[in-house]
Amino acid sequence: MTREPQSETLTAIRKAELRDVPAIFSMISHYAAERIMLPRPLTDLYESVREFLVAGNQKGEIAGCGALKLYNAELAEIRSLCVNPKIQHRGIGRLLTEKLLAEAESFGLKTVFALTTTPEFFAKCGFREVARERFPMKVWRDCLRCDRYFHCHEKAVCLDLSSTSELVKTQAEPAEISA
Ligand SMILES: CC(C)(COP(=O)(O)OP(=O)(O)OC[C@H]1O[C@@H](n2cnc3c(N)ncnc32)[C@H](O)[C@@H]1OP(=O)(O)O)[C@@H](O)C(=O)NCCC(=O)NCCS
Repeated sequence: MTREPQSETLTAIRKAELRDVPAIFSMISHYAAERIMLPRPLTDLYESVREFLVAGNQKGEIAGCGALKLYNAELAEIRSLCVNPKIQHRGIGRLLTEKLLAEAESFGLKTVFALTTTPEFFAKCGFREVARERFPMKVWRDCLRCDRYFHCHEKAVCLDLSSTSELVKTQAEPAEISA
């Protein structure tokens, strides 16, 4: 017999709120300490909280987060995507990515990119690896200020929304996942 998931374990994707910032900070800092992600100061997260989606349960706990940073009328970046280490590989990262892509599409954007240490995950979400030089504004804005600039091991990946719009709409439908 299939067991129904407990209601408190249901994880739904929603816009981040100010009260989520400490948990977002703590999750990003965890991966930054392992050099999997870049650290982000708490003040930076408060300033950009409106860019974030979170996967949260009914107890108010955060299972994961991700942000969509707009660059211009055509281009955005998925940033700070991460899932609580205890509940990885249950589809939460994919669900967050699909929701961020659906948001990008609703803005009429053409391309979404990411710099990541896990290009394999993004490949599963339809992204392809590209040269980082395609996104000079990212390099100017963030990379040149980063202390890992000369030994960066992140890969650039991107997804052309115009060629996948139907895919994004279909995949973005489920809003909840059992975690
Ligand atoms: C990468 C991350 C966001 C993925 O989230 P997740 O909820 O664990 O992943 P999902 O369950 O949604 O996985 C979706 C697919 O990607 C694959 N995948 C997930 N993480 C992967 C990894 N590190 N390497 C290779 N494939 C991976 C899964 O196997 C799954 O493939 P399938 O569809 O064939 O089953 C999460 O593991 C994480 O927080 N990692 C640390 C931070 C990080 O690397 N962030 C990336 C942006 S910098």
